[in-house]
Amino acid sequence: MAPRKLAAGNWKMNGTAAALAEVQALMAAHAAPNVDLLICPPATLLAQMNWAKQAHPLAIGGQDCHTDASGAHTGDIAAAQLADAGATHVILGHSERRADHDETDALVRAKATAAHAAGLIAIVCIGETLAERESGTTLTIVGGQLAGSVPEDATAANTVIAYEPVWAIGTGKVPTLDQIAEVHSTIRADLVARFSDGANFRILYGGSVKPGNAADIFAVPDVDGALVGGASLKAADFSPIIAALERA
Ligand code: 13P
Repeated sequence: MAPRKLAAGNWKMNGTAAALAEVQALMAAHAAPNVDLLICPPATLLAQMNWAKQAHPLAIGGQDCHTDASGAHTGDIAAAQLADAGATHVILGHSERRADHDETDALVRAKATAAHAAGLIAIVCIGETLAERESGTTLTIVGGQLAGSVPEDATAANTVIAYEPVWAIGTGKVPTLDQIAEVHSTIRADLVARFSDGANFRILYGGSVKPGNAADIFAVPDVDGALVGGASLKAADFSPIIAALERA
């Protein structure tokens, strides 16, 4: 059976309590979604969002966690603390964290293990830079990140892969559908080779997903949903993307 599709919003460092109105509007527009819905707000909003969503199936998630379960790490958040605030997912190894905080594959892998230990679903992000794309090394880079960032205890139930080409994030540029298909099918083959349930992992595409291009991207084989940045901040933008995934 094909994995259930996932529409995930990554709010990054955007949003204060006023943004909860967008989540209310989104939940009203998708009262009974036939795909999984996830918003990863700033950690400051998790508890409020958890309270606001009540019985709605919207899931909420963090954007990073520490490798340790607790301790002297000023400014960091443990996976169990995310879970305590209502999170069921956590984005790990986003290219912005790899770039801004020098996160390596090994660190992302350790974070994913910590997330799993706290019962969270890890959304492990991978993707090539423009220079890597132009030098023809995309599949090598992405394959290496996948092998290095996904821990041995990963299953289709506790891990989601997000392919996000760095050059497509926040730029309005998207790979061609053939380029997306090539990378997603390679990721799928790697997952199937390594994990007994590799066929069931969700593989999300991320990078400038908008209402206008979502349906085409969702028609690509092995695209099981999207990780959406800018267009997830407003219900008016995210809602048509969710609707396109529901139709896919
Ligand atoms: P944009 O949708 O704003 O390009 O961001 C994608 C992303 O980085 C999601 O994690």
